Amino acid sequence: MIAWHENKFAPKPGTILCKPTEIENGAAREFRFGGDSPFVFRMFVYNDAGNFKGFHNSCPHFDVPMNHTPEELFTPDGEYFQCVTHYAKFDKSSGICVYGPCEGKSLQRIPLTMEANNLKIGTA
Ligand code: FES
Repeated sequence: MIAWHENKFAPKPGTILCKPTEIENGAAREFRFGGDSPFVFRMFVYNDAGNFKGFHNSCPHFDVPMNHTPEELFTPDGEYFQCVTHYAKFDKSSGICVYGPCEGKSLQRIPLTMEANNLKIGTA
């Protein structure tokens, strides 16, 4: 698995994602870069009680997206992120897999910054 920022369509530092008010506490929002390309880059931002965390939306098991819809990023009880392919569960704070075929591996974190009330991609 290559580093997230080495992907062809990975957003560059300074790319504006959204306003922080657009992601409710405990919710996640997905972002895609690369237009109609089949190699689109997918990431999501999770609002962890006002601490915004960016993750590459790529399961460390088979390097595939975790979800089909934004709601599927979470287990039904909302306690973990999950991958819909083989149902690995990930700690929402750290992105580390705590159950499933990639236990102990982690989603790649994407650094974020806040400038002028915009959430932006930080420096890798
Ligand atoms: S591809 Fe995600 S758990 Fe297998």
